[in-house]
Amino acid sequence: MTTPLPPNNASEKSNQPESGLRQGLTSYGDKGFSLFLRKAFIKGAGYTDKALERPVVGIANTGSAYNPCHGNAPQLIEAVKRGVMLAGGLPMEFPTISIHESFAAPTSMYLRNLMSMDTEEMIRAQPMDSIVMIGGCDKTVPAQLMGAASAGLPAIQLVTGSMLTGSHRSERVGACTDCRRYWGKFRAGEINAQEKDDVNNQLVASVGTCSVMGTASTMACIAEALGMTVPGGASPPAVTADRIRVAEETGALAVEMASNGLTIDKILTADAFENAMRVLLAIGGSTNGIVHLAAIAGRVGLDIDMQALDRMGRETPVLLDLKPSGQHYMEDFHKAGGMATLLRELKPLLKLNAMTVTGRTLGEELDIAGPGFKQDVVRPFNNPIYPQGGIAVLAGNLAPNGAIIKQSAADPQLMEHEGRAVVFENSEDLVTRIDSDDLDVNAEDILVLKNIGPKGAPGMPEAGYIPIPMKLARAGVKDMVRISDGRMSGTAFGTIVLHVSPEAAVGGNFAYVQTGDRIRLSVKNREISLLVSDQELQSRKDKKPVRSPTAQRGYLKLFLDTVTQAEHGVDFDFLRGTEILGKTPRN
Ligand code: FES
Repeated sequence: MTTPLPPNNASEKSNQPESGLRQGLTSYGDKGFSLFLRKAFIKGAGYTDKALERPVVGIANTGSAYNPCHGNAPQLIEAVKRGVMLAGGLPMEFPTISIHESFAAPTSMYLRNLMSMDTEEMIRAQPMDSIVMIGGCDKTVPAQLMGAASAGLPAIQLVTGSMLTGSHRSERVGACTDCRRYWGKFRAGEINAQEKDDVNNQLVASVGTCSVMGTASTMACIAEALGMTVPGGASPPAVTADRIRVAEETGALAVEMASNGLTIDKILTADAFENAMRVLLAIGGSTNGIVHLAAIAGRVGLDIDMQALDRMGRETPVLLDLKPSGQHYMEDFHKAGGMATLLRELKPLLKLNAMTVTGRTLGEELDIAGPGFKQDVVRPFNNPIYPQGGIAVLAGNLAPNGAIIKQSAADPQLMEHEGRAVVFENSEDLVTRIDSDDLDVNAEDILVLKNIGPKGAPGMPEAGYIPIPMKLARAGVKDMVRISDGRMSGTAFGTIVLHVSPEAAVGGNFAYVQTGDRIRLSVKNREISLLVSDQELQSRKDKKPVRSPTAQRGYLKLFLDTVTQAEHGVDFDFLRGTEILGKTPRN
């Protein structure tokens, strides 16, 4: 901008409320001129003054050729825009970072906070009265909710929706539980290369997010439970008319929110997080959901009370019969009534006064949804899939700040177990030795993988699903106790302790476990203990203290210098809310 133009009518700005395109003016020293210039540029795109007077709804577009989970973004954007226009607003679409699980190295989690910063700053920087965020693939919805929570505007989440299931030789298949199953069959020599390639064509039958209860489906359900989507917004598959209608409704609602002052802080309350935790437990959701919920809560000054989460787990049954813990897929959940069916069963445990984006409470929305109907995807409260929530929170000297286990995915025989540690120092060490015939290991041992935590890998990859050593697998061993400071895919199974905190890379006790140490796991007592004296542990620390990883420059430096541990959501410390509101749930 080299040629300053004379100011527009300087009084034009001063008498107008700061809304629509008039807000957040770029600084040229003269507000009238800044608005004059802004309008001149936007008119270059053919807008009229009449259009520019409307409330502005931003639409965060995460469509990307690298992200087939968001492959319906163009259709969704068209429908959101239609909803905005029908309700009298002006839709303004803009791009942000998009992250797909299989196209982000070293791991998508490494980029989640970057996407949240992009989302927050673009909401702050550009003039808009409310924001529609289109996300879906695992890290995108958490990133958008984190960013929007920090930006503070009225915000509404639109998920892209699940992919359709495919059919392989008459068997119904879907990503990604069946991806692992068929790859296992191929490795075991049960299917040949041709069949492996055939099934590869069927596992992802359309655009959209994974069709089982992995992280994307978990976060879609959590977003609705938080009150951040239109009612029924979690479950319609990506390519359905229902999904497009949800998008149109979302756009229309965003216009209403632009004028009614329903900012995101009024929705993301302690009660809303409690409802989300209930739903996470009742759907048998991905363990990653805990990390993301902690990060979103942290943005509004709340800490997830892990002990309370554990208590809630004891009283919240798993009701949703979806793979990997059950038999159905997301499209079946939608046909069974989606979240309304689930929330109806959970009603006695919910905080029904929590506000939603509609301006009505969760309880009011449930009343509007009406009675349920006969279906077999959501079990009645008194006939659950599992009597307790899928996730238990562990503590002990191995994980002073906590660890978790997905007990619904674990072998009941191993949930009370003491064994000898077989330690792998990092992922490379694991790859080098796990399948070696020389590995000194037996089925009663406990496999320990260090340095895959937030700083260790970095980015806390989903590498906690430590494979059974080849020589034991060949002998028919299906499960062992496995412990790491990393995460695990929502689609994986086993007696696997995750999210050990503090992680090895920052010098937690976990760093000093040695092969031959005894470890005790007691899910009943919520205990994970290293049976080594404090004195011995201290002497190991003194002999070889851990030095946290560092970097010289760039995003990696920012990441390593500021990333928090699992219980704080693996967010950057400087992004957490500055006002501390306490813990959630409240009691
Ligand atoms: Fe995108 Fe599974 S890879 S949701």
